[in-house]
Amino acid sequence: MRTVWSPESWREKLVLQQPVYPDSAQLSGVLKKLSQLPPLVTAWEVDRLRGQLAAAAAGRAFVLQGGDCSESFEDCNASTILRKLKVIIQMSLVLICGSRQRVVRIGRIAGQYAKPRSSDLERRGDVELPSYRGDIINRAGFSLEERRPDPEMMLRAYERSAMTLNFVRALSEGGFADLHHPENWDMEFVRNTPGSRRYQQLLESLSESIRFMEVVSPAGLNELSRVDFFTSHEALLLFYEQALTRPERHRGWYNLGAHMTWIGDRTRALEGAHVEYCRGIQNPIGLKVGNSMTPAELLELIRVLNPDNQPGRLTLIHRFGLDRIREKLPVLTAAVQSSGLNVLWSCDPMHGNTQTTRSGIKTRSFDDIVSEIVSAFQIHRESGTRLSGIHLELTGEDVTECTGGPGNLTETDLSRDYRSTVDPRLNYEQSMEIAFLLAEQMHF
Ligand code: PEP
Ligand code: CO
Repeated sequence: MRTVWSPESWREKLVLQQPVYPDSAQLSGVLKKLSQLPPLVTAWEVDRLRGQLAAAAAGRAFVLQGGDCSESFEDCNASTILRKLKVIIQMSLVLICGSRQRVVRIGRIAGQYAKPRSSDLERRGDVELPSYRGDIINRAGFSLEERRPDPEMMLRAYERSAMTLNFVRALSEGGFADLHHPENWDMEFVRNTPGSRRYQQLLESLSESIRFMEVVSPAGLNELSRVDFFTSHEALLLFYEQALTRPERHRGWYNLGAHMTWIGDRTRALEGAHVEYCRGIQNPIGLKVGNSMTPAELLELIRVLNPDNQPGRLTLIHRFGLDRIREKLPVLTAAVQSSGLNVLWSCDPMHGNTQTTRSGIKTRSFDDIVSEIVSAFQIHRESGTRLSGIHLELTGEDVTECTGGPGNLTETDLSRDYRSTVDPRLNYEQSMEIAFLLAEQMHF
């Protein structure tokens, strides 16, 4: 039996992956301020996303969730945000045209600032310091001062989330996101590659269809001048999440810091604080499912997180890695399938495929990512379940963090423009290539 939920009932549970703030009075002061600031999203938007996710789980849409592993304060600028939005919208166009399905776009954006770490401490030579946990907690530089957790960073993260979301909303409401203006949609960096030519053809046939539809049904196309774009992040730093949790009359508690939040693979313990927090909010929830998950544990987590078996409420984001997916996924799909529980299945082909090069750089191979995606589609087809979403770490920039792909990046190329302070992301061209591959897979 679970006890009564409240926005702070997580504090009674086992709390993993939290910083220890040295000054508790300063922490309380920050949380008080945060809880008085306006929400970033509304409960209506959150409910709308839940409805769209229910449609996706039922086979009527596909979910494209993506963005940085960890947003950085420095990257809160116009061009980075614009490129991130642009690549996700462009990928969604490829998916829509290729698969003839609606696409639900969700960014890992406007709040993805906290990172779980495998170790509390980081050692370099003789020096040992607290690990970097994301810009909402401390800084990446390797000094005691930079690694000290500072509660004020929660306010800075809230402000940057608000600025990011403000710009994303403005861009997606019109002008930039208007499909009547395909000139906004050409591929930067990569012109005259097979991928960009394929994309250009797609854009031309899309423009033609739009012109045709406007002649036939001029009133029906208002929707084409804007796009829906939702935000998400890992609900990791529970002090922050609690402060953004607000009551809605007759509808319960919502986390109004993002449309969707997810529980990470390291914090998904049944009796842990993160599951406790997430079970009580009305938002759609994601649950990362990694190699240590057993069928019994998964069924129990689903029941705790979605006791009313509400469609669209729970997205299972599996992240096994190419080597393990065949062994791990079928037993879980079978268990969920036979229990009649409503979930949306999504594949994160990034986190199980991380490798470290001989020179110590974290990377992922494009081919491994692609192979895990292909396996995931295949296994779901064999299981009678449906892969309804993809969860990617990507950027709209021309970075060199993952090897392979259309630009054939090698390990030696990685040092050219490696920017991530945490996990390696797909670059612009690699992301677009994945979109074409997904569209193909969705056809089967
Ligand atoms: C992440 O999504 O950045 C992450 C840390 O994933 P996971 O919890 O699946 O390891
Ligand atoms: Co990551």
